[in-house]
This record gives sequence, structure tokens and C-alpha cells, in this order.
Amino acid sequence: MSHSIDLAALPADFVWGVATSAYQIEGAVAEGGRAPSIWDTFCRVPGKIDNGDTGDVACDHYHRWPEDVALMKELGVTSYRFSVAWPRVVPDGRGPVNREGLDFYSRLVDALLEAGIAPNLTLYHWDLPQALQDRGGWPARETAERFADYAAVVAGALGDRVGRWVTINEPLCCAWIGHLEGRMAPGLTDIGAAVRASYHLLLGHGLAVQAVRAAAPDAEIGIVNNLSPVEPASGSLADVAAARRMDGHTNRWWLDPVHGRGFPEDMREVYGVDLPERPGDLDVIAQPLDWLGLNYYFPAVVADDPEGPHPFARQIRRPGVPRTAMDWEVDADGLETLLVRLTKEYGAAKIYVTENGSAYQDTVAPDGSVDDPERVTYLTHHLAACARAVRRGAPVAGYYAWSLLDNFEWSYGYDKRFGLVHVDYATQRRTVKTSGLRYAAVIREHRGA
Ligand code: FCB
Repeated sequence: MSHSIDLAALPADFVWGVATSAYQIEGAVAEGGRAPSIWDTFCRVPGKIDNGDTGDVACDHYHRWPEDVALMKELGVTSYRFSVAWPRVVPDGRGPVNREGLDFYSRLVDALLEAGIAPNLTLYHWDLPQALQDRGGWPARETAERFADYAAVVAGALGDRVGRWVTINEPLCCAWIGHLEGRMAPGLTDIGAAVRASYHLLLGHGLAVQAVRAAAPDAEIGIVNNLSPVEPASGSLADVAAARRMDGHTNRWWLDPVHGRGFPEDMREVYGVDLPERPGDLDVIAQPLDWLGLNYYFPAVVADDPEGPHPFARQIRRPGVPRTAMDWEVDADGLETLLVRLTKEYGAAKIYVTENGSAYQDTVAPDGSVDDPERVTYLTHHLAACARAVRRGAPVAGYYAWSLLDNFEWSYGYDKRFGLVHVDYATQRRTVKTSGLRYAAVIREHRGA
């Protein structure tokens, strides 16, 4: 097979994964004792989601999971990153545990293990129980504490079989997009709420690490951040300072506290919001981790924007750079840059690329096949970037393609397709795309070697 991936660079036990998240694929929002999450609520706000889509049915994975596990087996992946829906397990966010919810994930985990696929479980992929939002949501400290209780419940039930754990997926999106930009649930535009949410998300992360470790001492735990390399649009002092702020907003604010460096001083000034700090919190936030998760989609080139929202830096469009259907720049070198940075600047001992992928306007051919050459190229180039980073010393232990299936892409609804497997939402029929076939071939080649 011809491709440009230096597969020999990757360790023999490199993890080949695919990723999804609960609200984006499960559907069955009112079944099995699940209560509403903030995304069920947000989807009902007119104008927030393209085409008025919701996650009510999504990929119907709640009922079709055996087929989805079989698909993964067919692709030859060795790990599956999925998330547990908090409102399925602790519907009110606190108090009674819903056994039926836990059983669903327990059956899934058993089926994965049976298929030789290692589960990688994310505790929080944005679907906060609405009942907790009603009590203040992430801007309130209580949410971090209840998150740890819920983490203990899940680890108690599944910790005997799940080896790899993620506390929180992309706290940046929850805090900044959900509480400052208002484009994701809960849809606020308030810098004070956003900063307090960011603080409690990281506190909740640290508390959950402690809770999972107590219930499942062998668990390997990480946090998943979506990061972007940031460059100034020009050499002007203003743009260089803007790039520094954007780097703080996107990267350092999330990495520094977890690494025991506290919250970046320069960004505290930019936000101008007092942190809800209590003695000992920073130590909780900086729990030692077994690995770091990196979600990578695009780089940021930014210009000064004094009138804009925090951090007063505006992403600019570089002419001539290819873009996906999300209008995100395609730049595989950015992935290499970040992997090397996590290694050099933060001393990462183990990194998983926990998400990476692309949306394109797929078409189904008359014979039912889905040929997606752009996604194949994207995948190939990003895997090649991982291999280059490994050659440069980055301890990259695995790669999870986003996503196994086309799914509910948050405020973009079902229009944006990221899957290696196409989903026909009218029939729920799954069709492996050319990119899925290519991924399977790469996996076979690496594992055969
Ligand atoms: C990430 C999210 C994931 C998916 C991809 C495209 O930010 O973690 O759920 O939506 O983007």
C-alpha cells in the first residue's frame, strides 16, 4: 500500500482507536431512566442548532451498539474511546444511581473486551445533567464535587474492566464556547461565569482523578484538551501580543494548572475575574496523570482585536490554505508541533491523540459506496505527523480517529460528517467509507509488521 506514514516509527503496541461521545451517537434520550442534559435543553433553543437538529435519535447507538462494536472489529481498531452520559447514570446529577444506565455501559464494555478492543472511557463529554445546571452548573463549585461522586460510581462499576480513563473532554469548549461565546450549551456569554466554569472544570478533573484512583487503583487516567498552535498574523507588536494571549486562552490556561504551575498570571489579568480559589485546590487540580490526551483539529493565526471578546485576538483566514467543511484549516504540521511541545514544555511521558478528523461533504454513490478522498488525505497526513513527532521524541502511544460514525456535530447538527463510517440517518444504515477502509489497511500493515 502506498502512503507517506513512517509506520516503523510507531511503537509495536501503538493503540489504533476510534472515538465518539454519548450525546452525539446514543439517542434514546428518554429511555433507560436517562434525564435531560444541558444539550437536550440547548437543542430546544430556536436558532442554536443548524436545521433545528437534536440528539434525540442521533445514530441510535443505544440500540445498535452491537452492530457498532462489530464494525470496529471489522476495522481492526484496538481501542474505542466513548463517553458515559452522566444523566444516564446519575440522572439528577446527584443522589440516586440509575442501575439501568450503568448496565448499558457495562454490556458495551464486555462486548468490547470480547472483541479484543480496549475501552477508553470519558466521564464528561459535555452532557451535564440539567438538574445540576439548574443549581448553577460549572460556574458553581458543587458541580465539581458532584462530578467526583459520579466518577466514583462509574469507576466502582466499570473499573474492573476499563483500563483507560478520561476525566473531562475539552474543558475549553465547555468554558469558553459554552459560557463566553454562547455557541454551545449552556449558551452563556459571561466572562465571569466562563472563568469560574473553567476553574471548576479543572477542579472537578482533579477530584475525579482521586475518585477513580480510589475505586480502580490500576486505572490509567488522563485529561483531554483540544489545543492549537498559535502564530501571530504579522510581526507587529500588537499581533505578537495577541498571539501570546490566544496561546494562553487556548493552551496554557488548561495545561499549566494541571502541571502544577497554577493559572497563568498574564491570563488572569486579561480576564480580570477573581478565581474562586480555596486553599489546596491547586494541588487537587495538579494530580499526577498517567497520560495526556490531545484533540487536534486546526492551528490558529491571530491578529490583535481590542474590540473583540476575550482574549481580544481574532483568528484570521490564511489565503490558499485548504479547509474542511467546518471551515477549519487543514494543517497536519500543527499536530506534530503540539506533540513535540507537550513533550518538551510539559514533560509529557505518554500522549494519546484522543481525537483528530475532518468533516467533508460526502456523497453516496449509486452502488451505495462512499468515497471520501479528502478525508483519506487528511487522515494520512495527520498519521504521518504523529510518526514524525515520535521520531522527534514525543511519546505518542496511540491515535483515535474522530469519529467512528457520522454523528450529531453539536451546533452544526447532522450536516457535518466526521465519520470513517457513513450513517444514513433515515435508515440508520452504516457504510464504511474509503477512509475507514484506508484506516483499516494502515492498522493491518502496522500490526502485521
Ligand atoms: C471536538 C469534540 C468532538 C467533536 C469534534 C469534531 O471538539 O470533542 O465531540 O465534535 O470536535
